[in-house]
Amino acid sequence: MSGSPTRRPRVAVSRTALPGDGVERLADRCDITAWTGARPPTPSELAGLVRGCEGLLVLGSDRVDAALLDAAGPDLRVVALASMGYDGVDVEAAAERGVVVTHTPDVLADTTADVAMALILMARRRLPAAMDALRRGAWGAFRMDAFLGLDVHGATLGLIGYGQIARALARRAAGFGMRVQHHHPRRREDDELSRWVPFDELLRTSDVVSVHTPLTEETKDMIGAAELALMKPTATLVNTGRGGIVDEEALLTALRRGEIHSAGLDVMTGEPRTDPSDPLLTEPHLVVLPHVGSATEATRAAMVELAARNVEAVLEGHPAPTPLPGTPSLPGRRAQRAGQNASVISAQP
Ligand code: DGY
Repeated sequence: MSGSPTRRPRVAVSRTALPGDGVERLADRCDITAWTGARPPTPSELAGLVRGCEGLLVLGSDRVDAALLDAAGPDLRVVALASMGYDGVDVEAAAERGVVVTHTPDVLADTTADVAMALILMARRRLPAAMDALRRGAWGAFRMDAFLGLDVHGATLGLIGYGQIARALARRAAGFGMRVQHHHPRRREDDELSRWVPFDELLRTSDVVSVHTPLTEETKDMIGAAELALMKPTATLVNTGRGGIVDEEALLTALRRGEIHSAGLDVMTGEPRTDPSDPLLTEPHLVVLPHVGSATEATRAAMVELAARNVEAVLEGHPAPTPLPGTPSLPGRRAQRAGQNASVISAQP
């Protein structure tokens, strides 16, 4: 590691009990301070943890904003997210302070696409409702008209966004005999898995609409009452992206009015949702999961491992393997402008 030969770099980690041995291996070369509380740290607790550190490893649900970056102090060089999504990061504030921010693409696409496929199957075939009835002793006799759902094979899947997870889902859908179409605002290309269609056409013609965009100012509430009204009454909406892209009130209304058939959510606003009477958790035609898209032992370990490799690379003076899209992989230098406190960035050679 670069820096003083007498002092090892200091790295804060916002949780303990992270899967895999990524953090353990980082501890061979850095002094790690990990949050050991049973609940996640509050923003001020995280700020206290990171004070004076050169590196910070956090989860996607931790907020990384200007206040946290300033609390860390001028030595902070890298913030590594053990997540692909980075809607909790103030990217501009990090850039202004010359801090590299990294995330974990590639390692979780297939695992998350598995859960998207599971939600499609569960919601369309009403499998959780059937299992609940069985567990309540309410199976009764075999009936031809009981537990009826809608077919997945032969249905048209519409992907909103066409990144790694959407393409991994498209590959699975092909195996289920689904037709696949997608909408991406800029990349208007067809490929061997899917054809590009305009947004409204996707909503009107898909049997399953699956959301795969990041949460940004543009995508917030992108699926609201108007969009749900365009969908088929037999359609299923699935969201494994981020809560906030789908307007949840509008979704509940559409489900209750039968404007769409069903929905499956792995992500919600205001996570974690803990009130068992929460309408989002009790709506019969809605299947909900507690943000488990990437939750396999191997994938979560790979995410932590990649985050740890990003920290290690930057602290050793190498480019981060997976910086956020469009951001630098090496830290910048803070330089004081004459007569001002503002910092400006110049790329490190
Ligand atoms: C991700 O990687 O973005 C998942 O949602 C877990 O945070």
